[in-house]
Amino acid sequence: MSNSDSRPIAVFDSGLGGLTVVRALMRRLAGESIVYFGDTARLPYGTKSPRTVLQFARQCLRFLMRFDPKLLVVACNTVSATALGDLAGEFTVPVIGVLEPGAAAAVAAARQQHAAGPCTVGLIATEATITSQAYPQAISRLDPAIHVLGRACPLLVPMIEEGRLPTNAVVQAVLQEYLEPFIKLRAPSLILGCTHYPIFSEAIARVLGPQTHLVDSADETALVVKQRLATMHAFGPVPSEEPLTCYVTDQGQRFENLAAHFLGRPIRQPVWVAPELLESAT
Ligand code: DGL
Repeated sequence: MSNSDSRPIAVFDSGLGGLTVVRALMRRLAGESIVYFGDTARLPYGTKSPRTVLQFARQCLRFLMRFDPKLLVVACNTVSATALGDLAGEFTVPVIGVLEPGAAAAVAAARQQHAAGPCTVGLIATEATITSQAYPQAISRLDPAIHVLGRACPLLVPMIEEGRLPTNAVVQAVLQEYLEPFIKLRAPSLILGCTHYPIFSEAIARVLGPQTHLVDSADETALVVKQRLATMHAFGPVPSEEPLTCYVTDQGQRFENLAAHFLGRPIRQPVWVAPELLESAT
């Protein structure tokens, strides 16, 4: 039996944020080719109902199945929190979300700071993720003594998608207001419960101070993917020169420019997919 599998890993997010997971995958898994799908025309998902999020996510994942992926990565917390249970059973390949890896990392970080006993960790995420209660539930399954104080931060995603820098005065003011409860709590750790937020992680860390450890699910998710590929004997064969191909539902230059910034390397021009095409295929 061959130990290598040249099929791509398919990664999906509502927009740019999932690229933080792509960056981690590229660091951990040099031999893999990656197909990325950003549903940029219908973003944000985080303000929509679970029914709409499920419907959009299903359409995007079905589109990605055209590339015969060996694995689907849902690099969006909102989808992972509200729709993963339904989606996971619908595809013939494993579907990996970002929430469980993030919750496990938060528990590990909390236990490093508080060896045992009750403690409270912070969570920032979209409205849909906070409303779903999926993080507190996942964390309590792992350790019922850890409580979660969550806050929705709906302004962060549009600012990131717009390309605002973390040093921007508006960004600083918004962060200061959103993070106030965690400053008061002197939270030992804060979960960045949205794949967009690591882009602002340095600015968030500055507002919170050194006592708060930031938990970013991107690297944890890449590790879970690596473990799964090992179990499947399905690592990619050789590093290719350009391992990443991106598909987006909104036309325009912004995704390409910002993607290069987030990944620290230029990307090939993304391919545009009309949202009507996704809708008509379901
Ligand atoms: N990527 C989404 C998440 O991780 C946030 C963007 C959106 O609201 O669509 O929750």
